[in-house]
Amino acid sequence: MAKFIVAPSILTANFLDLKSDLDKLKEAKIKWIHYDVMDYNFVPNLSFGPKILTDIVNSYNFNMDLHLMVKIENISVKEYLKPFLVKNVKQITVHFEALTKKQILEFLDFCNSNNISASISINPDTDVIKIKKYLPKIKNVLVMSVNPGFGGQSFISNSLDKIQKLKALKEENNYSYLIQVDGGINEETYKLVQKAGVDVIVAGSYLVGSSVKNLKERVAKLEG
Ligand code: DX5
Ligand code: ZN
Repeated sequence: MAKFIVAPSILTANFLDLKSDLDKLKEAKIKWIHYDVMDYNFVPNLSFGPKILTDIVNSYNFNMDLHLMVKIENISVKEYLKPFLVKNVKQITVHFEALTKKQILEFLDFCNSNNISASISINPDTDVIKIKKYLPKIKNVLVMSVNPGFGGQSFISNSLDKIQKLKALKEENNYSYLIQVDGGINEETYKLVQKAGVDVIVAGSYLVGSSVKNLKERVAKLEG
């Protein structure tokens, strides 16, 4: 029985080879795909949106874990999220830094009424304390261990303290959220996040791309 949930991020894939990557992940018995949406506004990069998401869920049975690194402007949160509401989207993460308090409440309502796990992410510079009031209401906290925007960056180790703090808060208060980490996971850093008390490990360049030769062994290590 795996101790940790592994959610590969397909951001680092060569998109001309996406099918081959997804086939390999399926073959390695991966259940969750982490889908990074970027807007060239909250983060300095642009990735993909609802179209590629829909193509994936129409051909595969993965549970989809959406990580929205976006600001939402001139449109309601509900309207913005609607096109992402496709089969097998089980969890959506928004960034505490990107949305207003009102938008976060709208987001929580949207997730509740659509039976989606609501998740909030914090950047490396944001303290856990900032999202304290949301902790009883969410299913997942995503601790960024790189500044969001790109795959293949180096792990920032203040995420380990945050994971420990979130774990302590969860135990003290009987909260039910999972703790997820994203960014810079590799041969060395996965052990650190496992030890710190994470539940879900996102990995991009360590698991996805043509240079990854020993995928199954890597998945087994991350699963613990
Ligand atoms: C970064 C994304 C990550 C990214 C992780 O902003 O949110 O999900 O794909 O890539 P690695 O594991 O290579 O740091
Ligand atoms: Zn991500």
